[in-house]
Amino acid sequence: MSDMKVQIGSLVLKNPVMTASGTFGYGTEYMDFFDVSLLGAIVTKTVTLEPRYGNPLPRIAETPSGMLNSIGLANVGIKRFLSEKLPALSTLDTKVIVNVAGHDIDSYAEVCRLASEHPRTDAIELNISCPNVRQGGLAFGTDAVFTAQVVAAARAVTDKPLIVKLTPNVTDIGDVAMAAVNAGADALSLINTLLGMGIDIHSRRPLIARGLAGLSGPAVKPVALGKVYQVAQKTDVPIIGLGGIMCWEDAIEFFLAGACAVQIGTLNFVDPQGALKVISGIDTYAKEHNISSISELTGAMIAPE
Ligand code: SIN
Repeated sequence: MSDMKVQIGSLVLKNPVMTASGTFGYGTEYMDFFDVSLLGAIVTKTVTLEPRYGNPLPRIAETPSGMLNSIGLANVGIKRFLSEKLPALSTLDTKVIVNVAGHDIDSYAEVCRLASEHPRTDAIELNISCPNVRQGGLAFGTDAVFTAQVVAAARAVTDKPLIVKLTPNVTDIGDVAMAAVNAGADALSLINTLLGMGIDIHSRRPLIARGLAGLSGPAVKPVALGKVYQVAQKTDVPIIGLGGIMCWEDAIEFFLAGACAVQIGTLNFVDPQGALKVISGIDTYAKEHNISSISELTGAMIAPE
């Protein structure tokens, strides 16, 4: 019997697999496909203070090795989120992590405060890494000083576990990670999407209306693994790994690189039950390898020469 429980600060998950923000709606959308309570946690799509329509269409496109998106943080706004979306998750027997974003430090702090006050919110994930908005997003996550300021502002308004989601679109992710940790982050999730592009050679238009977009899926997995490894060398703060996890074997790689839990993103679009298959594959692997607790795998890669 392997213990699948993992601890992320004060947050205890029944297993180390959650669904990534922006790929699982508000949680209710997948209830017809499987028992969502089997997940370690769900991370809801980013919510902001005001409702957002998002970016012009097309804002999602397939590439041979992943997916481009530029949704622009479309969401119903915190008011409707708290009154309609979170209560719909009340009967779920899994943790709910609310992903939040703002356009400046005050709006980050306020949406974080409001989301934290709701009893169904088990933890906050601070999105400082969206590549698809003019204000907020990458502007915070690519600068260690801004990162420190926005994380400190969020920390000041919540006692709930605070997870900060980092971008790979930086020269040294370790600098930004340490800025977040020193400002009070309880955990880090990495990576958000890589900035990329696709072009229709017949129309000569970009595949995504806005041009540049975020790339996710199998193409980004080695990048994500490398970033998780780099950050794990710098801090003991729990790391949640994501980026191109398409099967349970990918998840095991993330644990060995230093992650204590993983998020499933693009796979949800390919196979709505993909996250469940990842959970059961991890469980089987742990049993076959006589691993008593899945957390033993975190950072257990044999160190490079
Ligand atoms: C988007 O809404 O454009 C994507 C969200 C993100 O990358 O954080």
